[in-house]
Amino acid sequence: MTVAPFALMQLSSGLFASKTLAVAVQLDVFSLATGDGITVEEFAAARELRTRPAGMLLTGCAGLGLLEKDGDRFLASPLAREFLVPGTRYYFGDFVTMLDERVYAGWMRLAEAVHTDAPTVWDSTQRDSLFDDADPVTVRTFWRGMHSLSTYTARAVAEAYDFGSVRRLLDVGGGGAAFTIELCRAYPRLEATVYDLPFVCEQTAERIAEAGLSDRITCVAGDFFADEKLPGGHDVALLSSVLHDWSAAENQVILDKVAAALPDGGRILVAELLMDDDESGPAPAALFNLLMLVETRHGRNYAGAEYERWLRAAGCAAVERVPVAGVSANALVVGTVARPAYRGAGTQRSM
Ligand SMILES: C[S@@+](CC[C@H](N)C(=O)[O-])C[C@H]1O[C@@H](n2cnc3c(N)ncnc32)[C@H](O)[C@@H]1O
Repeated sequence: MTVAPFALMQLSSGLFASKTLAVAVQLDVFSLATGDGITVEEFAAARELRTRPAGMLLTGCAGLGLLEKDGDRFLASPLAREFLVPGTRYYFGDFVTMLDERVYAGWMRLAEAVHTDAPTVWDSTQRDSLFDDADPVTVRTFWRGMHSLSTYTARAVAEAYDFGSVRRLLDVGGGGAAFTIELCRAYPRLEATVYDLPFVCEQTAERIAEAGLSDRITCVAGDFFADEKLPGGHDVALLSSVLHDWSAAENQVILDKVAAALPDGGRILVAELLMDDDESGPAPAALFNLLMLVETRHGRNYAGAEYERWLRAAGCAAVERVPVAGVSANALVVGTVARPAYRGAGTQRSM
């Protein structure tokens, strides 16, 4: 035989790895496993577990590269120390928890979503979108999870794109402020506005205060569908993981309003996990696309060419793509707003 089913074993048992990680995060294994590490007995005693499942969980984490074994002690691997110990700057555990507690029940009904073309993570007979629900549990798990997913990507964006000449950034649907906090840390002269729904702004303001950036980052509560105008006074607008939640027509409405809120020469940055233009992948974008099926009514992970088309239709003359080595975005699509007088005589607006 020229092929073997190892890849299929890995795909079909992906849940084993995902649940092992989620339970390890829930029991905060990785804080215990820093320093001198832990034995199975110490872990069992610390979390009031029997030694059999305690040992199985630690061994599972070791098999996944999250713990390293030294004699009878388990130590957090570099990956776990960097991203899975609560309180670390790029802590990823809140995203793991968000998927595990909030999203995976909906993924278990993926077949239903494929048949009905309706989301399965939340009850679409009761609400219009996942953002209609301001209940405290959803707010806490969703936006903490988004911050956790986005913060490393925000650093990657700060490295991939030069914000040195930017004075005021508008973070449209800025959520947990992962991008504004990280960009303001990387660019000390930058000031920013997070524009998001009122109940999101309440908790985001707390996070900005914790980061010590309340003097440079302001939250403005609003709704980009209901509001006629978005806040002005910015030279760059960022939309990270926002447009994948909506249909093509809704995205054009949002981008038209964003462009109208910027001056001539202002820039719109779209950060997304872009699908290849021929929609053949890549896998992270293609699977996030299915996440949009179970989470949204009309959202999708779009190809870069589609964002480029909408940006041009919103009045951007120059549009470029900048690769980003992030987990929630693999590229920025950047459009520069050019109003007719600014573009100069004879320049046609292209679609
Ligand atoms: C998937 S999250 C992305 C958050 C953030 N940009 C990030 O990358 O971490 C989408 C954001 O859009 C916000 N949003 C949804 N509908 C909105 C609306 N009508 N007006 C303003 N913001 C909205 C949500 O509250 C949420 O924070």
